[in-house]
Amino acid sequence: VSFDGVAPWYRLLEALAFGGALQRARVAFLGEIARSRRTLIIGEGDGRFLCELLRAYPEMEVDCVDASERMLSLAQRRIAAEFRGRALNVRFLQRDITLDIAPEDQYDLIVTHFVLDCFPEAALSGIVANLARSAKPDAVWLLADFCQPMSGFAWLKARIWLAVMYQFFRHVAGIKARKLVDPSLFLRFEGFVLARENLFRHRMLKSQLWRRN
Ligand SMILES: C[S@@+](CC[C@H](N)C(=O)[O-])C[C@H]1O[C@@H](n2cnc3c(N)ncnc32)[C@H](O)[C@@H]1O
Repeated sequence: VSFDGVAPWYRLLEALAFGGALQRARVAFLGEIARSRRTLIIGEGDGRFLCELLRAYPEMEVDCVDASERMLSLAQRRIAAEFRGRALNVRFLQRDITLDIAPEDQYDLIVTHFVLDCFPEAALSGIVANLARSAKPDAVWLLADFCQPMSGFAWLKARIWLAVMYQFFRHVAGIKARKLVDPSLFLRFEGFVLARENLFRHRMLKSQLWRRN
């Protein structure tokens, strides 16, 4: 899997396909994580979520993990341009979470935006379990992703969009997943409870806040 090739085009493609909807989903619950101090972001991409996170919580300690060197460098450049020499507590780590998951720490906040959908079901349960091991007992997990509405025109629209996107990302980034897998079951298994959810774009996009009790 490599998002290096698509990284420079990622933002433009997203804007053409979805306007600002994905970014709205990413930041939907930023106001509700004020108690978090240590954050682990998995598959951050080009840094747009990270940027808003640091704008809201400049003191936050963040480990930002991505397998793609180009995505990480876009994120780093974005943060450097936005925060111009300001002291921040961010580490950029190039890691493949299917092989080498663990920044050694325990985190208050785990963020997986539009990344769990890259993995087939067999890999996803292990990834969620590994990430959950890095989460503190009272951690929060923010997750934005696509979803498949159950009925009506929204069902059809999402079916078509998802089929096109999976073909595209299998081709350009080599993702292994062939279809969307809902990670909710795995999160529940790890003791997380869905606390908040917003849906966007005819229920095709979701933003969720999970809490561990
Ligand atoms: C679809 S993009 C999503 C980027 C961003 N989080 C967003 O909200 O748009 C998936 C991101 O996950 C990263 N990624 C994919 N597989 C990965 C893996 N096995 N380990 C670490 N990062 C991975 C990619 O490099 C890419 O930056």
